[in-house]
Amino acid sequence: MPAPTPVFFDCDTGIDDALALGYLLRSPAVDLVGIGTVSGNTDAAQAAINTLDLLAIAGASGIPVAIGSHHHLAQDYHGGAAHVHGDNGIGGLELPRSDRRPDDRTAVQLLLDLSHEYAGALQVVAVGPLTNIALALQADPTLPTRVAGFTVMGGACLSPGNVTPAAEANIYNDPEAAAVAFAAEWDAALVPLDVTMAHTLEEDDQRALAASDDPLAQVLATMLDHYMEFYRPIFGRRTCALHDPLAAVIAAGEIGLTSAPRVPLEVDTTHGPSRGATIADLRGIWRGLGDSSRGGVRIVREVDRPVVRILLDTILG
Ligand code: RIB
Ligand code: CA
Repeated sequence: MPAPTPVFFDCDTGIDDALALGYLLRSPAVDLVGIGTVSGNTDAAQAAINTLDLLAIAGASGIPVAIGSHHHLAQDYHGGAAHVHGDNGIGGLELPRSDRRPDDRTAVQLLLDLSHEYAGALQVVAVGPLTNIALALQADPTLPTRVAGFTVMGGACLSPGNVTPAAEANIYNDPEAAAVAFAAEWDAALVPLDVTMAHTLEEDDQRALAASDDPLAQVLATMLDHYMEFYRPIFGRRTCALHDPLAAVIAAGEIGLTSAPRVPLEVDTTHGPSRGATIADLRGIWRGLGDSSRGGVRIVREVDRPVVRILLDTILG
């Protein structure tokens, strides 16, 4: 079996972030070497508390968790998404408090340090606003030369947005940071709503997590109640979209990409109705889309399996 891939996970924990964390902790393909938090679903400090508490429940004590940016590059953080993820980001669930503290470094410094320690091998997986990533690039523009891959959950290319008709939450919360992150020269993949909304976790799956004797699976099942209620009117049934887990599984290379052309991508940073839109040049779809000769960002449009099966098999073991 090949050596596990070192992964830096930047998140706004978040219920689907918590599911992705569970996957990254349990996948034999992954060595989770550091976690940064950013304001999004909840604020960066609360996201770190949630993450540390989940790590303690999972019995994973050695992974550094560093708090990242509270505010975004060009706009202040204006509160999280309580209607989606609950007041504390994890459905209002009060977890037993971890006795670990966040790392003394910022998320930016932790990412830069790990990029040296795992130079050429590190996979960066970002499933919140891209503030920390942009700040890391501004602090050290050579970062991409040491990163093997950069996978982002965010954006809506040919699909509608979820916070505005045009924009997805992670990108909308910090469009300027997203523009910086996607302008950098690294092997970047975007996992937008176009594909994540096709990957759901159903009531039977929630029951399977709840029935497990694994404490992490049980708390994930409990917090899913809040998230699945949010999605009930959107899908017309009690279910939820697996945004962040899909990005994590793609970064780990445990799912095949059946449509993922590399094309130029721009982020709308204007202040009109399309602020935060991800404009990917997908005009080639009418003739069977391949990679653009102009390069760009890999836009994941389709994968070869339902990610929920990989997620549950990995978490439940
Ligand atoms: O739009 C979905 C994304 O926004 C997910 O990453 C979710 O956790 C929130 O951050
Ligand atoms: Ca997230």
